[in-house]
Amino acid sequence: MTTDSLDAYFAQHQQRLECFLKDAIDLHSKTIVKQAAAKPLLDSLHYSCLDGGKRIRAMLVYMAAQACQSSNTDSEMIDCAAAAVELIHCYSLIHDDLPAMDDDELRRGKPSCHIAFGEANAILAGDALQTLAFTLLTQAGNGEAELRLTLLAQLAEAAGINGMVGGQAIDLAVTGQSLSYSELITMHQLKTGALIEAAVAMGASCSGATVNQQQALLDYAQAIGLAFQIQDDILDIEGESIDIGKPQGADIAAKKATYPAILGLEAAKAEAQALCDSALASLSVFDHKATPLRDLAHFIIKRSH
Ligand code: IPE
Ligand code: IPE
Ligand code: MG
Ligand code: MG
Ligand code: MG
Repeated sequence: MTTDSLDAYFAQHQQRLECFLKDAIDLHSKTIVKQAAAKPLLDSLHYSCLDGGKRIRAMLVYMAAQACQSSNTDSEMIDCAAAAVELIHCYSLIHDDLPAMDDDELRRGKPSCHIAFGEANAILAGDALQTLAFTLLTQAGNGEAELRLTLLAQLAEAAGINGMVGGQAIDLAVTGQSLSYSELITMHQLKTGALIEAAVAMGASCSGATVNQQQALLDYAQAIGLAFQIQDDILDIEGESIDIGKPQGADIAAKKATYPAILGLEAAKAEAQALCDSALASLSVFDHKATPLRDLAHFIIKRSH
């Protein structure tokens, strides 16, 4: 696949996801939409969740499902899983930017949710997006009950204390401190890797992946999950605010424990490349249906946004 075809893949699936997310938010806010007092909250959901973001985690759901595609792959379930992962991710970004957390005022090239709608609405917007993610999975189209339960468990585990939330707690607690290499990796795996791993695992579940396929995809996801946060840390140093859509240099200003801060910029780049190579090697059990996953691994460490 060339960069052009990865762009085309993104454009096609992003549009599909965008419609699905908008419909999901609107369908599930039918009561609140009649309450003028709740309009800022509803507006904040649209503002923070629609029309923005690379949608990498949703793409991973679609791509992993495609790699393991079988005759009984349930496409509505895949849309639900992709949307649910992005809802959790959007919620995590809203809370990540709050004054009590990273205190960042720019997200996706716009004022952060709490700047635009106030802190209370931003906290509630995150809460609403999180619960909507799980609601969607309970109601997913033709999905078998067992598959729904699997997806719910995969997402809940990754989003919670043993995943993103736990990683965020460590990130905040160790700010200003020097971490060992293994502590740094654990923090990155939890705060960012866990949700990326869940996205891949959920896509695989939707397509009834074999045990071998699941293991290969887990290896792939662990590698790109870590590479993704390393590249995010690198972009905080080398990126342009206009491209990354968030304040450049925020990690250094806040004395965050990042990969470049602990190991140096060159070592961070070398590790991102090594992880990309390892992710690609994990996909050797797959045929051309895993081409988008291969291209995404390259994109993750080459991206400028
Ligand atoms: C940013 O994630 C937060 C991290 C986990 C590093 P993304 O870079 O995927 O953010 P969006 O969704 O594209 O805005
Ligand atoms: C955030 O990591 C990870 C999340 C769980 C949201 P960062 O704090 O580095 O993400 P950005 O750089 O603000 O997007
Ligand atoms: Mg953070
Ligand atoms: Mg942040
Ligand atoms: Mg960052």
